[in-house]
Amino acid sequence: MSDKLQTIDGLDFAVADLGLHEFGRKEIRLAENEMPGLMELRREYAEAKPLHGARVAGSLHMTVQTAVLIETLVSLGAEVRWVSCNIFSTQDHAAAAIVVGPHGTPEAPKGVPVFAWKGETLDEYWWATEQLFHFTDAEGHLVGPNMILDDGGDATLLVHKGVEFEKAGVVPTVDEDDLTVAHEYRIILETLRRSLAADPQKWTTVASDIRGVTEETTTGVHRLYQLAEQGQLLFPAINVNDSVTKSKFDNKYGIRHSLIDGINRGTDVLIGGKVAVVAGYGDVGKGSAEALAGQGARVIVSEVDPICALQALLEGYQVARLEDVIEKADIVITTTGNKDIITVDLMKKMKHQAILGNVGHFDNEIDMAGLGRVEGVIRTNIKPQVDEWVFPDGHSIIVLSEGRLMNLGNATGHPSFVMSNSFSNQVIAQIELFTKHEEYNNDVYRLPKILDEKVAKIHVLALGGELTKLSKDQAEYIGVDVEGPFKPEHYRY
Ligand code: NAI
Repeated sequence: MSDKLQTIDGLDFAVADLGLHEFGRKEIRLAENEMPGLMELRREYAEAKPLHGARVAGSLHMTVQTAVLIETLVSLGAEVRWVSCNIFSTQDHAAAAIVVGPHGTPEAPKGVPVFAWKGETLDEYWWATEQLFHFTDAEGHLVGPNMILDDGGDATLLVHKGVEFEKAGVVPTVDEDDLTVAHEYRIILETLRRSLAADPQKWTTVASDIRGVTEETTTGVHRLYQLAEQGQLLFPAINVNDSVTKSKFDNKYGIRHSLIDGINRGTDVLIGGKVAVVAGYGDVGKGSAEALAGQGARVIVSEVDPICALQALLEGYQVARLEDVIEKADIVITTTGNKDIITVDLMKKMKHQAILGNVGHFDNEIDMAGLGRVEGVIRTNIKPQVDEWVFPDGHSIIVLSEGRLMNLGNATGHPSFVMSNSFSNQVIAQIELFTKHEEYNNDVYRLPKILDEKVAKIHVLALGGELTKLSKDQAEYIGVDVEGPFKPEHYRY
């Protein structure tokens, strides 16, 4: 339970300050103009309202851009409850505006239940995530959602773990002193223990109503494929991340914008001339390296995959192992989606006041728990989401957003236009699974290429691009339809 929880006229919510709603509404209005994909979908489905009857549980950074997504889902007929998928990523003015709604006031809010504020504790985060599952039906009975929209998979995880423990008849207990169990996992267990004590069948009931999940990011998609491979996925899933207009744009060009924004707002150091190390050269790593190089940094990449390493070399970056270059790095950014990338040993070797940040989905890329356990280490908070950690020898490193997504913690995440691409795919995927769920098995699917091209086309035209039209003859020659899709499934862009 959070002391932020309020209920006004049946609308429950927990945000920092409803008084911020006007500022939020102004920024939402500006963002709408920068999100042509979402606005086009609102127009296209204004009459049909294909999400009528959908109860969407959304766990995705509660930003201004997400506000436009939420109001798009609502305009297509959905009922929505929302949380952030990260403790630092909420923009409090956006959350306030969504609760108040375009026609409400702080005294009489008429919007959407949001449970998110910047700087939640992990206990509050998981409490909020649980609130996603408390819709009410027309008779006022508590019902679960019938759709999940996830980013990183935490909402999906809660349902799956809940069902797993329900079937086992017990929520496992972990030894307080066992350092191999992450603090966050203990909180998840506690959340589930509480919910199952109140209703022993809660999670099977919830799961049975869910028609599907649409997943936003690489890390969440990994989790879904693992569940599907083990035969444990409880409902169909659409992998939104691997729509080309998502991962090849948001992950790359989005981070190219917001990584630098986060470093600047967090530290204001001159990036030019500095040595910047980027761990991982996938889509997010490519955008990160390009952004840092664009500021004049000398970029070094670490990779395990020779294909990505070769790409980095041909772009002109040095490719090296972290342990060989960490001592000369001024800025270190992790982008791998993998764990244990920056160990305490590496942190100890970093330069005085070197900057360390992560833009991979979870905070386990950097061993923050291990850093906290270093004997004699002192943490000095410089400002929100910026900490200086001083080692006993007197040298320090600057850690951004406690090792969590710093482009959202220290800045405001990706800009509207790129998120319009990602979120258009989300809306299309929600419509697909909600309206045609019986055509899908409990497996992970991608959207058809023709829809990817549709999303791209809207944004090409919005930027003033002019598409060339294939002649019938040309189309036949390269074996495609005049109207697309223009590429085979295996094409890599
Ligand atoms: P990706 O799979 O394209 O790239 C990750 C790269 O890291 C791969 O090339 C992999 O070979 C490499 N890697 C794995 N372990 C490594 C290690 N030990 N050392 C060096 N390299 C290693 O994934 P993508 O799309 O780039 O996403 C990366 C992470 O960023 C994910 O967690 C994703 O969810 C997250 N993400 C964050 C965003 C943000 O706004 N901060 C936006 C989009 C994605």
